[in-house]
Amino acid sequence: MPHVDLQLSDRSYRVAIEPGALRRVGSIAREHAPSPRCAVLVDDAVAGTHGATAIDALRAAGFEPLVHELRASEKEKSLEATTGAYRAMLAAGLDRKCPVIAVGGGIVGDVAGFVAATYLRGVPFIQIPTTLLAMVDASVGGKTGVNFPLPGSPGEPDVGAAADAALGKNLIGAFWQPRAVVIDPETLRTLPERHLRCGLAECVKHGILRDASLFDFIDANAAAILALEQQVLTTLIERSVAIKARIVEADEREAGVRALLNLGHTFAHAIEPIVELDLHHGEAVAIGMVAAARCALHAGSIDAGDVDRIARLLASLQLPTRLPKPVDAHGLLRAMTYDKKTEGGRFRLILPEMIGRARIAEDVPANLIVHAWRDAGASADDTASSVETSGG
Ligand SMILES: NC(=O)c1ccc[n+]([C@@H]2O[C@H](COP(=O)([O-])OP(=O)(O)OC[C@H]3O[C@@H](n4cnc5c(N)ncnc54)[C@H](O)[C@@H]3O)[C@@H](O)[C@H]2O)c1
Ligand SMILES: [Zn+2]
Repeated sequence: MPHVDLQLSDRSYRVAIEPGALRRVGSIAREHAPSPRCAVLVDDAVAGTHGATAIDALRAAGFEPLVHELRASEKEKSLEATTGAYRAMLAAGLDRKCPVIAVGGGIVGDVAGFVAATYLRGVPFIQIPTTLLAMVDASVGGKTGVNFPLPGSPGEPDVGAAADAALGKNLIGAFWQPRAVVIDPETLRTLPERHLRCGLAECVKHGILRDASLFDFIDANAAAILALEQQVLTTLIERSVAIKARIVEADEREAGVRALLNLGHTFAHAIEPIVELDLHHGEAVAIGMVAAARCALHAGSIDAGDVDRIARLLASLQLPTRLPKPVDAHGLLRAMTYDKKTEGGRFRLILPEMIGRARIAEDVPANLIVHAWRDAGASADDTASSVETSGG
């Protein structure tokens, strides 16, 4: 079976990737948990389909699963959701040997992971991601958590990082590595295409960061990927997970190089919460990666040809590369200043240097960012100098 192994000393694990892998979940879980019971925390959108297949496989392997449904919404990615799961698990008498098994997208994976990290001080955790984003990103690397609104956050801001802070994205959480990740690309057949494309944005991100040949592979196979051709999807996921795995191995707790995975995300966080733009995370990341590439271009640190290739590949995957509506560039810059500005109006950003390589830039001047936002279709009629003293 195609797989990627994460080497994290006593927290090492295998990510198995194969069409039909869902039916092997029982035997994989058995290898990691001798318990007769388990908790399946399942996204209610897939409970009757992929959830049911996983539960059948677990029963066939001798497990008696407690099934608890969760709703995949950022509002319900909360301590209330974890409390509901703890209650159900305590009522069922699940002990420390019982694994928690997440079936769903990144929201359910993050909530279930935090439940696994905290229930009786931690129980074995198994991820069965059913969105492309969760397969290539959220299920691998051990970050778990829920949202928690900041006390006294400034009113109800509706823009940028301030809005994320008001929602308190992922503020409460834990690093808790799964014992196994089981990826069945067949489960993507039911995923709405818009979510599929959002996951593809993160795959392209991995290619830009670290692997020009992954970028080329996506470029050469865009149509087959969108058509969910299973062999191509399997290769795409395996290669994309491998990039994340190598970065997590090098920096499990995000003290350094793991920050590279934020390519495009500081830009994305400024536009994602703007309701009128109606952007999903991966779409905002696509626009953000092009903006980061343009920023690097204005800084003279990447070739124009590479910037064009990035924009063209994203467009061929039907992802946006420009803002769908004009927004004030200086407002976007202020949204980015919320937590990312360093001294003197300079920003810490991940910038691509070429396809296959990126760096952490500590000192990006504000005017380059405004320039990149204007390239992306933002409006700005004065110079950036006024911005350097505002916001933050
Ligand atoms: N832990 C990490 O390292 C990490 C990394 C990236 C993102 N995340 C988190 O992941 C979340 C986003 O994850 P996501 O993009 O998977 O979103 P999601 O979990 O909201 O899933 C997207 C939608 O697809 C539905 N769905 C899931 N699988 C399906 C399937 N096979 N068929 C039909 N519908 C399906 C869900 O119910 C939901 O409506 C965010 O909360 C983000 O913070 C975590
Ligand atoms: Zn992302």
